[in-house]
Amino acid sequence: MKKALFLLLAPLMAFAACQSKCPENVKTTQEAKMSAEEAILTRLSVRSFKEGAEIPQNVLTDILKAGMAAPSAMDRRPWSFVVITQKERLKALAAAHPHAKMLLSASAAIIPLATVDLSQPGMEKAFWIQDMSAVTENILLSAHSKGLGAVWVGVYSVDERVKAISEFLELPAGTVPFSIIPLGYPAGQGEPKDKFDESRIHWEKF
Ligand SMILES: Cc1cc2nc3c(=O)[nH]c(=O)nc-3n(C[C@H](O)[C@H](O)[C@H](O)COP(=O)(O)O)c2cc1C
Repeated sequence: MKKALFLLLAPLMAFAACQSKCPENVKTTQEAKMSAEEAILTRLSVRSFKEGAEIPQNVLTDILKAGMAAPSAMDRRPWSFVVITQKERLKALAAAHPHAKMLLSASAAIIPLATVDLSQPGMEKAFWIQDMSAVTENILLSAHSKGLGAVWVGVYSVDERVKAISEFLELPAGTVPFSIIPLGYPAGQGEPKDKFDESRIHWEKF
């Protein structure tokens, strides 16, 4: 009887706990009204986050859905993901990378992984790198459109970082950690850079 009551109340208790820790300014995909163009032009790297705030799991799942919507060579989708939300794990991950101290204040981190053998064999095999870049950018844009901050932390192709993160995540051989994406509620208000440079455009020929 006690167990049945607990099973019934557990989701409600989890929801109530999250209500107090999840700031209101996070949006679900349905609520995020930003156009793709606006998200692309206003995205910026965020490296400092409000501490102690949680990102609801459904929002993280929506962000991963955006990641998995990325194009991939021959539609091979060589990706999988580790999501870290526990403070101690985020701290340990920060210690495993030389430029990832922002993980100390982040609410979560997504680590896109590539299983290289899932990609197209032959001379197009290396396209998995572009596949994973598209995934990473989709995740950054999705997070930004929901009011979250994020930054692309490079892992592949720096051997020492690939080794350290693979060990940390206990990855099987052939699965490569591509990037780390710390996520959280921005601690401040940054300004996106205007990177448009007309001199880089060549019409018809270089
Ligand atoms: C492949 C790659 C690796 C990156 N690695 C790091 C990193 O290790 N640490 C970091 O703080 N930012 C990293 N960044 C983020 C860049 O520094 C950032 O995108 C750049 O300064 C432009 O700023 P913006 O994202 O605000 O437009 C990386 C970006 C890319 C694309």
